[in-house]
Amino acid sequence: MNQLFRRKHYSESDHPSGLLRVLGVWDIVFFGIAAIIGAGSFSSLGEAIFKGGPGVTILYIICGFACAFTALCYAEFASRIPTAGSAYTYAYASFGELIAWIIGWALIMEYSFGNIYVAFSWSDYFTGFLERLGYHIPDYLTCSYSEAKNAFLRHSENPELINAWKTAPIIGNLKLIVDIPALIINGLITSVCYIGIKESKNFNNVLVILKLAVIILIILIGFQYINTENWHPINPQTNTPSFLPNGFSGVMSAVSGVFFAYIGFDALSVLSEETKNPQKNLPRGMIISLIICTLIYIALTLVLTGMVDYKKFDGVGDPLSFIFEKSNANVVWMELVVSFVAIIAITTVLLVFQMGQPRIWYAMSRDGLMPKQFQKIHPKYKTPSFATIVTGVVVGIPIFFTNKTFILDFTSIGTIFAFVLVCGGVLLLPAKERLKGRFHLPYINSKIIFPVLFIGGLSFFYFWQPDFFANLLDWSDKTEGEFRVSITIFIGINLILCVLAFLKNLSLIPLIGLSSCLYLLTGMSHDNWFWFGLWFAIGLIIYFVYGKKHSKLAMK
Ligand code: ALA
Repeated sequence: MNQLFRRKHYSESDHPSGLLRVLGVWDIVFFGIAAIIGAGSFSSLGEAIFKGGPGVTILYIICGFACAFTALCYAEFASRIPTAGSAYTYAYASFGELIAWIIGWALIMEYSFGNIYVAFSWSDYFTGFLERLGYHIPDYLTCSYSEAKNAFLRHSENPELINAWKTAPIIGNLKLIVDIPALIINGLITSVCYIGIKESKNFNNVLVILKLAVIILIILIGFQYINTENWHPINPQTNTPSFLPNGFSGVMSAVSGVFFAYIGFDALSVLSEETKNPQKNLPRGMIISLIICTLIYIALTLVLTGMVDYKKFDGVGDPLSFIFEKSNANVVWMELVVSFVAIIAITTVLLVFQMGQPRIWYAMSRDGLMPKQFQKIHPKYKTPSFATIVTGVVVGIPIFFTNKTFILDFTSIGTIFAFVLVCGGVLLLPAKERLKGRFHLPYINSKIIFPVLFIGGLSFFYFWQPDFFANLLDWSDKTEGEFRVSITIFIGINLILCVLAFLKNLSLIPLIGLSSCLYLLTGMSHDNWFWFGLWFAIGLIIYFVYGKKHSKLAMK
């Protein structure tokens, strides 16, 4: 049993010498925006709007809130371990091997699976851009098989997907439908990572400014085309105009797409050793970038849902240029500008993720938890060559048989799960000695505050939405029922947390982080949970069959 929780001790000598503390708070903010704004804002926003309507704005606020508290927990971890690292490194030092392995395994979902979604989004904008220039790639070569099939089966209004299904050539008894641009960009990015590129602060800053400029342009121009009636579409169940046309469960069903737009801020914690006065600048930088992104997302959602009826976003992978199409606002030059900038913005996210994954595998392999090949460094290019190729394969193969929705759900559930472990982990950390120049999460005793906040909030909702609570145990309808089951479990766990807060004087900030991340999990469907459970089980089997025996700590 002890073996499962054996910890790795990092010492000051693990601190890579030569890293200069050069980054100020605004550098962190820029890195943050670079990592955060990508396919989530340029792409998954469309599907999120389709599910939740204009009310999805509320979900952006909830996710921003959960991420801000999680960011503080990351900063706390980063300040405790004297070496740069990811959640995996922190967990290894604090909670031992099994939890570290689980987080490392979940991070594969964040980085590799996240990149599958980003590659699909890249393809949407790329093909849209070519289309606008007058070059048409057959629809069956620009979308995934299962997406086209699903669209056909549920009589979607998306013409490209339906056309892909109807016109695809048939080989044997299988229709040839595959997203070729997504495969090509994955191949190109893998090659670039294999050869190695230097991340450059200046280049990064130029890209961030470009991204922000085009988003602000979209908001300013789009603002003039808002028809406020679109903010109150008809709720088909009550037949009345509503900001939440599919109810709150509709909003929560969009959680994967919304949360995905925030992923990336956690990567900032690796910059702790290069930050001037990290105690102040790192958490400030993280929080400022999250606030900026949240404001951008709120403005974008209001503009998009004000310009176009939310129902038209079904299956739209390039919503930010879609709103300027002929059938919508009809601003041709904006369509072109947006699709071009989106291609660049999304490419940078692909690069960040595709470079991140091999480095996590490299760290796990160095600890003996993954085979030695993952540590192999290319003699000429000095990159983790084997791990980079495996990443390319792990991203590339699923492009043939998965679809965007599945991958988005899978990535988000895995990442939220990792965040839950990080926040929960910080709750378990022992008090530490205060060192100058390091970040310290302020301790606020949650004994009274947390139970008052939770039970107060619950009572407020009880009186505000009595019907929801009256039907909480009616699980007959699939979507509504799944949400109610999850909410019931969420309330149960939080009541336990209230008791623990009272008895153990838990620290308030990580507790709120934990509770808000758990809330985000209530939006996940039971199918997501099934696939996530399967993935989790495979991870555990690999650990017990391989990692546990080969761990460097087992040899000591
Ligand atoms: N937040 C990142 C994006 O939206 C993952 O692309």
